[in-house]
Amino acid sequence: MEKKILDRLINDNKNAFYVFDSDKLKERIGFLRKHLPEDVELCYAVKANPFISKELEDIVERFEICSPGEADICCELEIDSSKMVISGVYKTPEVIEEMVRKADFSGIFTAESLTQYRQLCELSERYDQKLTVLLRLTNDSQFGMNDEDIIDIISKRTEYKNIYIKGIQYFSGTQKTSIKRFKRELEQLDKFLIKLHEEYGFDADELEYGTGFPVSYFEGENSDDSELIDGFSELLKNMTYKANIVLELGRSIAACCGTYYTHIVDIKQNKGINYALIDGGMHHIVYFGQHMAMKKPYFSIVGKEINDDDKLWTICGSLCSMNDIVVKQVPLADIEIGDVLCFENTGAYCMTEGISLLLSRDIPGIYIVRNENELYKVRDSFETKNINTPKYERIC
Ligand SMILES: Cc1ncc(COP(=O)(O)O)c(C=O)c1O
Repeated sequence: MEKKILDRLINDNKNAFYVFDSDKLKERIGFLRKHLPEDVELCYAVKANPFISKELEDIVERFEICSPGEADICCELEIDSSKMVISGVYKTPEVIEEMVRKADFSGIFTAESLTQYRQLCELSERYDQKLTVLLRLTNDSQFGMNDEDIIDIISKRTEYKNIYIKGIQYFSGTQKTSIKRFKRELEQLDKFLIKLHEEYGFDADELEYGTGFPVSYFEGENSDDSELIDGFSELLKNMTYKANIVLELGRSIAACCGTYYTHIVDIKQNKGINYALIDGGMHHIVYFGQHMAMKKPYFSIVGKEINDDDKLWTICGSLCSMNDIVVKQVPLADIEIGDVLCFENTGAYCMTEGISLLLSRDIPGIYIVRNENELYKVRDSFETKNINTPKYERIC
């Protein structure tokens, strides 16, 4: 982003705000494609950051949508339904029915339970609509189904002529760093797909796999994930069963494009500790793995060098919670009220996972920058006090 764009944003925003950089997003997709086998497709998990979905429209093959709200957002952005995977542990029956009824909906549905599968079968018959389904295999959590349930569905698959079972979906978890674990999972999935072929005559066309590739949020961590992704790609190439592979990624795509800006609004020393208070805080910056600022996130001070000094600072948010510590005991020289801090890698989950209604503070504005100097506001900053104000309406 050009300096004049940042200057303008700082000038226009008296409170915290996020900037998502579309160019960084494109670079990241390019990086992933360079390190993954050529024919692997990418599916963006919208939950990681709905605000960048449009930026990704032409550079990923799919969007994983986990709620009616996410579906509405993608429809509003005019993302083609053929790119949508309607996923989620609970699918609101009325919303699914509405999608099935629409003759022009051509997305994929995941079935996460026998109930969900039966519902899809029943709707496909009632509306005489062809539906494409991925069966979600559990990762030993509340998500997906046991392999026996999937086998049961596969064995009886000819009962429903309108259902096309495209393959299997599997989500590994998030922040997965162990190549051994990927190896174990992919070997199990490979075996399972071969078993479905050999014993049940079912050829899965697709494996949609949520890898949970990690993002480095803190100083001292390895921020180069190329080795892990190269290793993972080798594992994919070694699979015996050849299905179309779709990787479902959220934070690994989104995190790097985001920066969060927040102002220092007060400075004090309490019992020998130097505190800088910011107008944002932990309701806006959520880093997976952070607790009470035990780890140091990547951050800078706009327009100033971070010079190590004897003076240590603890940076705290404005939530009136003792937990609201963002950075602990860092050496910073010359900070003052009005300085703007910039936190990196805040493009995934930060803007939605924070406890945004606590204290009825404002929700930050969100901007997208394209081509270094094209600036778009995609959400105004807004007050939450209306949501938290009781409005009495006598019911009886
Ligand atoms: C089914 C599914 N796919 C993909 C993701 C994205 O995970 P991550 O952001 O770690 O890539 C999630 C996250 O919860 C998920 O539940």
